[in-house]
Amino acid sequence: MKMIQLLIALSLTALVLSGCRGRTSEKPPIHLNPNMDTQEKYKPQSRSRFFKDEATMRMPVEGTVARGLLKADLPFYTGRNTDSSFVNTNPVALTEQVMNRGQERFNIYCAPCHSRLGDGKGIITQYQYPIPPTSFHQDRIRSMPDGEIFEIISQGIRNMPSYRHQIPVADRWAIIHYVRALQRSQHAVLSDIPKNQRDRIRP
Ligand code: HEC
Repeated sequence: MKMIQLLIALSLTALVLSGCRGRTSEKPPIHLNPNMDTQEKYKPQSRSRFFKDEATMRMPVEGTVARGLLKADLPFYTGRNTDSSFVNTNPVALTEQVMNRGQERFNIYCAPCHSRLGDGKGIITQYQYPIPPTSFHQDRIRSMPDGEIFEIISQGIRNMPSYRHQIPVADRWAIIHYVRALQRSQHAVLSDIPKNQRDRIRP
């Protein structure tokens, strides 16, 4: 019995070794289990004799949306309502966490130009930036709908570049919450302060 096993092992080794011929060969390698390697198929970018336009690579059916990429929530993704007017209220609910995120992102992405106060005197103004960044503390920007600021961040405006690639959608809305906080901080009236704290304000 042992002998037979040894013989089988030896002949298998011989078979394996004889496979390594040590030189190149034009013949296809021995392929014991070819699976579907040699089936008829189209290679990418190759020509098709089946389709009229002769392209093997087909476009997705019109209206196809990749998983997770359905952007049906217009106000959130575009800052506009279905009638294409700007949304007035921020679609992201305000929480302390959102405000902190907005502050952090604002200080990273907007403050270099608009300054941490939003007064448009960011550090770039020391280096002859051609157009002074806008101050947020003017009535025109204070009364601007949230959706319009969203669009400005997403598309850029005149001399301000777009930040849609750097800032994800939810962060843009968080930044807008923070811009509103900055505006209130620079334009506060006495009634913004809780009654029991007003005596702490010096006239
Ligand atoms: C590279 C500098 C730069 C950065 C960064 C920048 N801005 Fe601006 N922004 C400008 C300039 C310059 C203008 C004025 C554009 C003009 O009038 O030509 C402007 C204008 C604006 C305006 C007013 C647009 C109008 O209607 O007049 C808003 C609102 C604004 N920026 C928001 C933001 C926010 C929010 C961020 C951060 C996500 C940001 N900006 C980042 C340079 C910048």
